[in-house]
Amino acid sequence: MGLEDKIREKRATVGVIGLGYVGLPLSVEIARAGFQVVGFETDPERIEKINAGRSYITDVLSETIENLVAHGTLKATGDMTGLKGIDVKVICVPTPLNDNREPELTYVKEAADNVAKSIAPGEMIVLESTTYPGTTEEILQPRLESTGLKAGNDFYLAFSPERVDPGNKRFSIKNTPKVVGGITKQCTKTASLFYRQFVKQVIPVSSTRVAEMTKLLENIYRAVNIALVNELTLLCDRMGIDVWEVIDAASTKPFGFTKFTPGPGIGGHCIPLDPFYLAWKAREYDFNTKFIELAGEINQQMPYFVVAKISEALNSRCKSLKDSRVLVLGVTYKKDVPDIRMSPALKVIRLLQARGADVSYHDPFVVTISSDLAEMNSIEITEEVLSRADCTVITTDHSSYDWDWIVANSRLIVDTKNATRHVKDGSEKIVRL
Ligand SMILES: NC(=O)c1ccc[n+]([C@@H]2O[C@H](COP(=O)([O-])OP(=O)(O)OC[C@H]3O[C@@H](n4cnc5c(N)ncnc54)[C@H](O)[C@@H]3O)[C@@H](O)[C@H]2O)c1
Repeated sequence: MGLEDKIREKRATVGVIGLGYVGLPLSVEIARAGFQVVGFETDPERIEKINAGRSYITDVLSETIENLVAHGTLKATGDMTGLKGIDVKVICVPTPLNDNREPELTYVKEAADNVAKSIAPGEMIVLESTTYPGTTEEILQPRLESTGLKAGNDFYLAFSPERVDPGNKRFSIKNTPKVVGGITKQCTKTASLFYRQFVKQVIPVSSTRVAEMTKLLENIYRAVNIALVNELTLLCDRMGIDVWEVIDAASTKPFGFTKFTPGPGIGGHCIPLDPFYLAWKAREYDFNTKFIELAGEINQQMPYFVVAKISEALNSRCKSLKDSRVLVLGVTYKKDVPDIRMSPALKVIRLLQARGADVSYHDPFVVTISSDLAEMNSIEITEEVLSRADCTVITTDHSSYDWDWIVANSRLIVDTKNATRHVKDGSEKIVRL
């Protein structure tokens, strides 16, 4: 039986390599569609959790994993030799930057080498990790073809960017259109057929490079527009104009304007990094991606601006930042997720500490922060804790926060997210970006 028939009849076995924010929800969706899914992971703790029916990603319920594992449709393993005989292999490993801000493709290469050891004619390999245009053809294809098999002839090879938005309740894998580009027309067709089994709308494109560039355009668009609104925030601050009111007013335009909001900077595993994958590749073509560099520069300034705002706010109360008690609310890079990777709140904390402030934090999702900061634990917020702080800083607007209560009990607030906009009393003690 050919791969397409196996896919249609849900008899194709699927291996998802890398069970993180992308790979785990994807594995669940594929398994729910009726396929047998094996997750290949290098982290033993994650493997153990999955096989015990426990989730470590907020968007995926433990109950769901438990059911799938109990029915034998999902399991996790660290044994990469198990890739042998798996019909469809989807790679979802990290694509970070190295210390020189260059693409770090070690994980992709490792995954590709493991797939190459197991590949057989008729199988399909799809890369989902975000990367620069050309990765599938330049990095994956030669590794897979080192086996003597030919991509497009002996096996299918495609790229399909992941668009998952952690914490988004409205859009999931199922109802987010999926872009798919193969290295041949047939590869695109077969990969599209696969995704159509569990995604409502599939958008085939003409090549892997178009699919790779599409994802980068999406994330660069966000990085640049966030930077634009952040730059206008800096200007509005100087001009004494309320940027939030401006954004709300501009957002009433029913066409040609998409709302972006300012904040303490950008974070997460995607927006701060992905644009630099393209900037790096562009240099090979003697091309400088100026928007990307400029957006990075402006967004990097925001934590410094927030700290200056805190310092000014304290100054207006005849207090210096040094030795002031500052309580930071929310350390994740965005609301309602437990992810602190590259979170600007961590930078704000670091800068405050470097200036001698006595910093504590609360986050309902993050018990401890360490990285290169001294280890800190989330403290419980009580009326006493709020009223003891010289300044409360809102860096992440988690839904569980009761803003009326927070404002009522705080002495001074610097709100970087306009989270307190609907609070009725206490506006005199709130400083917004
Ligand atoms: N997090 C997001 O919101 C998001 C959204 C869209 C795209 N992406 C992209 O998807 C990719 C994965 O991101 P993520 O957030 O899921 O990362 P993650 O760190 O949450 O998960 C990656 C997983 O891969 C595992 N891993 C690493 N090397 C491996 C290997 N050789 N074999 C098997 N497993 C391996 C890691 O242990 C980890 O569990 C990245 O390219 C990222 O840019 C992420």
